[in-house]
Amino acid sequence: MYKKVLLAVAAATMMMGLTVSAEGETIGVSMPTKDLQRWVQDGENMQAQLEEKGYTVDLQYAANDVQTQVSQIENMIANGDQLLVISAIEGDSLGTVLATAKEAEIPVIAYDRLIMNTDAVSYYATFDNYLVGKTQGEYIVEALDLENQDGPFNLEMVTGDPGDNNVNFFFGGAMDVLQPYIDEGKLVVPSGQMTKDEVATAGWDTATAQSRFENILSSFYADGTNLDAVLASNDSTALGVVNALAANYTGEYPVITGQDCDIANVPHIVDGTQAMSVFKDTRTLAAQVVEMVDAILAGEEVPVNDTETYDNGTGIIPSFLCEPVAVTVDNYEEILIDSGYYTADQIEG
Ligand code: BGC
Repeated sequence: MYKKVLLAVAAATMMMGLTVSAEGETIGVSMPTKDLQRWVQDGENMQAQLEEKGYTVDLQYAANDVQTQVSQIENMIANGDQLLVISAIEGDSLGTVLATAKEAEIPVIAYDRLIMNTDAVSYYATFDNYLVGKTQGEYIVEALDLENQDGPFNLEMVTGDPGDNNVNFFFGGAMDVLQPYIDEGKLVVPSGQMTKDEVATAGWDTATAQSRFENILSSFYADGTNLDAVLASNDSTALGVVNALAANYTGEYPVITGQDCDIANVPHIVDGTQAMSVFKDTRTLAAQVVEMVDAILAGEEVPVNDTETYDNGTGIIPSFLCEPVAVTVDNYEEILIDSGYYTADQIEG
């Protein structure tokens, strides 16, 4: 009945010359957590843009708990949602529930994070994750002028959750830039913690990154050794580093990278306690995913721009990669405020 009414509304709207591409289909949107601002923004943008197109949106946040995410997706399937957009908490944990989606012929788009080892994923939309890491690495190279200086400079690293496939690209992209300088001896890592597992942060959690850094500072820098740079893969982990430094370090302040331009981090970019962040405009990603949804449901060609990079263990998943942008104190106003992403008040708190 409900669907019939929606169909009638859609038909009437089309006769009035307005474009409506969705006929009341329900799209399940599964987001990992509300703890980190970016996902709230992602969820809100997806909901607004899908509703604008006439879709009904079933938006759920899973409190960073894998079992909660699985149950929420089970409900979406049971409720007959026509398509699922999922940002996985853990890339490897959705195989069983997505097998059910596949049986029910429900297409799945992996949102921002690739879902691994299941053939139920039709498409992947994200930012160019390798470029995020590469941009962070290049920022450190330029800030320390590693082309011209011999150093040695002291570097420490912190990345995200080891179950998030993006970490391989963020950390891998940055290390492709930094490793040659480590090999050359221009960069030194006093803690010796350099592998992905050693520098990972479960759940991308700020307090976890902070306590690991407190240990590093008291074990390797308490004697007055300078820390010159910190590769932090995102803003929640960068915040942990900033907090640890504030209470435990008096040397020259290091260059710290980040990602997302979270509201909590922007004041640090402005006052120089975080040198940069990589901005990923969630409005752009949402718009891209909505185009994918439209095309899939209309049986049309789905817009992708990468068919080589993202193998989820069952083969390459056709992807659309949006472009990330480096943000510093020099361009944050233009990119974050003038673009309407944040208001000046939000940033000043
Ligand atoms: C996202 C980052 C985010 C991190 C923590 C990653 O998968 O790509 O933007 O900072 O998860 O939520």
